Amino acid sequence: MRRLLIAGNWKMNKTVPEAIELVRELKERLKGVEDRDILVCPPFTALYPVGRELEGSSILMGAQNMFYEEKGAFTGEISPVMLKDVGCSYVILGHSERRHIFGESDELINRKVISAVNHNLIPILCIGETLEEREKGETRQVVERQVREGLKGLKPEDEFVIAYEPVWAIGTGRSATPEMAQEVHTFIRDVLTELFEKEKAEGVRILYGGSVKPENAKGLLEMPDIDGALVGGASLKAESFSAIVKTTL
Ligand code: PGA
Repeated sequence: MRRLLIAGNWKMNKTVPEAIELVRELKERLKGVEDRDILVCPPFTALYPVGRELEGSSILMGAQNMFYEEKGAFTGEISPVMLKDVGCSYVILGHSERRHIFGESDELINRKVISAVNHNLIPILCIGETLEEREKGETRQVVERQVREGLKGLKPEDEFVIAYEPVWAIGTGRSATPEMAQEVHTFIRDVLTELFEKEKAEGVRILYGGSVKPENAKGLLEMPDIDGALVGGASLKAESFSAIVKTTL
């Protein structure tokens, strides 16, 4: 049985006081929710204060990106050691904005994924096709490549999460239907079964992301292979994020 994971990707939003305010309200609203994992991913500048604010709470914290080296002359980068130091247990890697705006390749993302697991951080590997790729019928091909390349070199005992986020659904208000998402999630699990053994593939959580809102969360989360959500816009307000977290199945 896979434990549900609801993750909030705050992207480049929230100053430190705003981040603290949001997380305080989330703690209040989500008190007593224990049957699922709740994760917030603030921008780098807010990680330390948010981590302190979350001490003693069951809400987990992750980062939105990292570099694969531990330290050194890499101006502007943040290392896995630094993320662990401020209390992160997860890290989002290969988000479509990293791939498309910042040109991250499957190879670079793979190096980050390997480094994350080596530092006891759980990577959330984001994958998904563009609208053009979907219209050309290339969804499976793209997703399979991103999964295979992204996870290269991982061992069956390494813990990781996949987030399927069709690029055309991110920040557009246009979510995939539960059936569309389920179809791709089943395909991803089949690829995982080929890469690892069946038992491992059955235990991997595959999140859906792309315009998840309180209104569409239930339909998506009820699908057998959708094990949680990666929420962008709707994670910036305590009211909408906690409503998604509390979606009853
Ligand atoms: P969205 O973003 O919920 O605003 O569509 C999701 C994401 O990019 O992770």
